[in-house]
Amino acid sequence: MSEKRESMHGQWSNRWAFILAATGSAVGLGNIWKFPYITGENGGGAFVLIYLLCIAVIGIPIMMAEIMLGRRGRRSPINTMMHLAQESKVSATWKLLGVAGVIAGFLILSYYSVIAGWAVAYFFRSISSVFVGVTADGVATIFNDLVSDPERLLAWHTLFIVMTMVIVARGVRGGLEKAVRFLMPSLFVLLVILVGYAMNTDYFLKGLSFLFTPDFSKITANGVLIAMGHAFFTLSLGMGAIMVYGSYLPKSTSIAKASILIAMADTMVALMAGMAIFPIVFANDLAPGAGPGLIFQTLPIAFGHMPGGTFFGTLFFLLLVFAAWSSAISLIEPMVAWLVENRGMSRVKASVWSGFVTWLIGIGTIFSFNIWGGEEYQLFGKTFFDLLDYLTANIMLPLGGLFIAIFAAWRMTRSDVIDELKINENMFKLWFFLVRYITPVAVIIVFLNAIGIV
Ligand code: TRP
Repeated sequence: MSEKRESMHGQWSNRWAFILAATGSAVGLGNIWKFPYITGENGGGAFVLIYLLCIAVIGIPIMMAEIMLGRRGRRSPINTMMHLAQESKVSATWKLLGVAGVIAGFLILSYYSVIAGWAVAYFFRSISSVFVGVTADGVATIFNDLVSDPERLLAWHTLFIVMTMVIVARGVRGGLEKAVRFLMPSLFVLLVILVGYAMNTDYFLKGLSFLFTPDFSKITANGVLIAMGHAFFTLSLGMGAIMVYGSYLPKSTSIAKASILIAMADTMVALMAGMAIFPIVFANDLAPGAGPGLIFQTLPIAFGHMPGGTFFGTLFFLLLVFAAWSSAISLIEPMVAWLVENRGMSRVKASVWSGFVTWLIGIGTIFSFNIWGGEEYQLFGKTFFDLLDYLTANIMLPLGGLFIAIFAAWRMTRSDVIDELKINENMFKLWFFLVRYITPVAVIIVFLNAIGIV
């Protein structure tokens, strides 16, 4: 087998470029939009604790495994899996792991882009001072006006898909890398300001206690599944996004250190978003379980009442759009890389095609908030958007992660794994134990538990 030293799509200029891009992929709507609302829906502290546990015990080890596979394969996830299966002399069917990942990426991006569109819309609302002095009822109206109008949602969704495709078409070095360099630190500063505002609401402690005091009576088996699914979602694991980024990683970089750093940055952002949002929820008598609209119905209140709120609000939604943008490109990159490798398409053509298909599926999510919102359009009490989110985040990603773990720890030649990870022996043993036994068993138990078997 010839040793490929670099992917045909190029390589990151250095280790930091990879860490930034992977953090850019990880930090996104998952941290700021999804984490607070699912925490609110699932009762708070106990949910957060399980989520943190999943990050540590499942997330970080799987992230290492996924980056490792990508770097060793040096190709798009589908071809990487095929190549590695050959190298380890196991069935070529393993490429289906890559195929499932590409499908999951499509499906996730289709609704991700719709929500990112809300953030774009809120950027424009903020810059036009719409939030100044706004009341809790006022923000609810602003939000409902937006989501009940399919045409407006379609316009923002279209804009966001086009933005994503432009970056993806330009490729790894030209597009992805430059997009993330300044954004992460700025977003972080903005979150600090928001947490500062929350501290002055008199409800900060109540918010903290909601987030960090576990009450296990509030957690259900399904809640545990959602917490685990979110650990995959927020770290961009289980569908090949991190694998494809790993395939552009220079050989010398420490995979373990990078993974820990990325997971820590990601977790910090999510917890800070929670600390900013819940005090506002309680101070205004809003419902923590308000659902996907939660941040759009709380943060504008903060911006509407703090000094310089129009400026900070505009900047915040702008950065949120950027965070979503740098995540979105990683959702579609496995598909685009594969089209380039196997169909001989140019990056531009591959981006346009994948963008179009995602855009089309996204229309189902748009309708979920208005004309398909009624019960007659629901299945198991869930809208199209709910179903898509549940299927991808809670089923497809953990399954993908499960198979990544099985492949890395049970199927790959052990010496290849050691060679690629290059960590000291004790660290390797710990990682190997986690990926070989703990992660797969945990994922399976959570699944069985959710369907009521265990
Ligand atoms: N992690 C991103 C977020 O938290 C979303 C995302 C980007 C993602 N790439 C992914 C989720 C790959 C799952 C798989 O917003």
